[in-house]
Formats: sequence, C-alpha cells, structure tokens
Amino acid sequence: MTLLKKPEFREEEQYKHKLREEIFQLKKKRNAIILAHNYQRDEIQEIADITGDSLELSRACTRVKEEVIVFCGVHFMAETAKILNPHKTVLLPVLEAGCPLAEMITIEKLKALKAEHPGAAVVSYVNSPAEIKAESDICCTSSNGIKVVKSLKENKVIFVPDRNLARWVQLNVPEKELIIYPGFCITHMRVKEEEVLKAKAEHPGAVLLAHPECEPDVLKHADCITSTAGMFTYAKQSPAKEFIIATEKGMLYRLGKENPDKKFYLPSEHLICATMKLTTLGWILHALEFMEYEVTVDEDIRQRAIRAITRMLEVK
Ligand code: 13P
Repeated sequence: MTLLKKPEFREEEQYKHKLREEIFQLKKKRNAIILAHNYQRDEIQEIADITGDSLELSRACTRVKEEVIVFCGVHFMAETAKILNPHKTVLLPVLEAGCPLAEMITIEKLKALKAEHPGAAVVSYVNSPAEIKAESDICCTSSNGIKVVKSLKENKVIFVPDRNLARWVQLNVPEKELIIYPGFCITHMRVKEEEVLKAKAEHPGAVLLAHPECEPDVLKHADCITSTAGMFTYAKQSPAKEFIIATEKGMLYRLGKENPDKKFYLPSEHLICATMKLTTLGWILHALEFMEYEVTVDEDIRQRAIRAITRMLEVK
C-alpha cells in the first residue's frame, strides 16, 4: 500500500505544479486576476491574487485593473463582479457552480412580499440573483447585515433570502421589524447542535466561531458569530489556542496557515459546499484558455442592482 501511494501522490503534486505554471502564464497573457472565496479548495486559495469573504471580494471588484476577472466562487459572486465591472470579462470557471440558497428566492415571491408590506425596505443578502438585487433597496453580506439594517430609515424591513442571518440580525436590531424569508444554506444546515456540543466537550476551552447562516440552536452556543473574514480576524487576535469552526471546511486552509500555533476543528466532516468545490485548477486553466464561462447581466437589471450593491458598500 505504501509503495503504491507514494508515486501516485508525487504525480498528483507534479500535475498540480504544471497546472499552476500554465495558469500563471495564461493569466499574464490574458491580463487576468483570480479572485477566490474563502470556501475554495486549498490549491485555489494558494494561487488566487485575492481571497476573501463576500464583502471583501465585492470591495476588491471595485478596484480591479485587469481586463479579465476569473471568479472562483459561486455564480452570484461572479455576477456581482460583473455588475460592478460591466466593461470587463468576468469568468466563472464552472457553469454549474450555483448557490442553492440564492436560488431559493424568486422575483415573484419578492414582489408578493413587497405588495404585502408596502413601505418596507428590502434588504437582499448578496447570496441572491441579480434580479433580486435590482428589486432591493440595499444588499448586505454576513459581515455587514447588522450595520446595513441599522442604517435604514424604514422600521419595517423585508430580508431575503437567508432566514438564519435574518433572525440573527433581528436579535441585534430589535428596534426594527424584519419580515423574514424562509431560505437557508444547505451546508450550514448540516451543522448540528449535538455535534457542536460534542466538539466542545472534546475540546474544552476551545472558542466556537459560527457563521450566521447556522441554525439558532447552534448560534446560541457560539462565542462569536461572524462572517468568514471575521473568523480570520478573531482567530488571529484571540489569545485562545483552540477553535471550533462552524462553517465550510475551506476555512481550515488559511486559518491553519495564518495561525500555525493554533488548532482548528470542524464540528462535522460534512461541512462541504458541493458547488464551491466544483472549481479546480483544471477548470481555471480551461477558463483562461477558452475564456469560459462568461457571466452576463441584462443592462437594465445591472443598473438597478448596482444601486443596491453600491449603497451597501457605502455603509461604514
Ligand atoms: P461570507 O462570505 O460573508 O463569509 O459568507 C459565506 C457564504 O456566502 C456562505 O453561504
């Protein structure tokens, strides 16, 4: 077994090395930049020019100088990049890399909610399609949801599509009334309270960092509820040496790299976002070679959606 495994491993590494070289060459030739979300595969985070959470990547998109953006994430993220960069080519390496949560909200359902609650402000989580953003007053991410809702003059707020983020925002902004849409993230739904409690018992003293898309019965045990970027900041600044990370597995790569003296545990082995993991080095090379798959947004929708995104980026 050992004899068979070693050469296989070396071949795999060689292959990745070759792919990386070709990606770097083609990236230069195409004048491209690679952006990657914190949930991407380790080897993609390694070669990306910028890694970050949804908000950091949206901000990064406002400063891009290159002609081509290769977005390693899911569709709504690449779409946001296109909304902010209408004259650049935005590539999503895997066409099927969608976000099931974003797909839970439809324009008909949002319009029905607006008709039911006239005068309410509409906040759409960035995990939503461009046409939903176009029908919204402002967007938010998991790192600025509370600030965004607090910034509104309206007291009634329709919040779509993630119910857990909305519930958490509601707890933190009790002065507003949130109309909560029942969408959810299938990956964060896999974080179970009993597994979190088991992890806490196995690692007494470990700090629990949880993403606000987790269920309330998980969030109530968290020491800190924050976005993926917030988790990096917390782990770096905290004197604690052990952390339980209640979000997608991709986080472990940078957490471990940036904090070699600290330990990070997932409460479950199943915290993998299948669509985030569709992107591979091979697909990135394919994207740069064939300039696929180009993300487009209808100009009327883009002009309305950019208002909600820009308004979000202005919230301090
Ligand atoms: P952040 O990028 O805001 O951390 O959220 C991750 C996410 O989109 C989970 O669905």
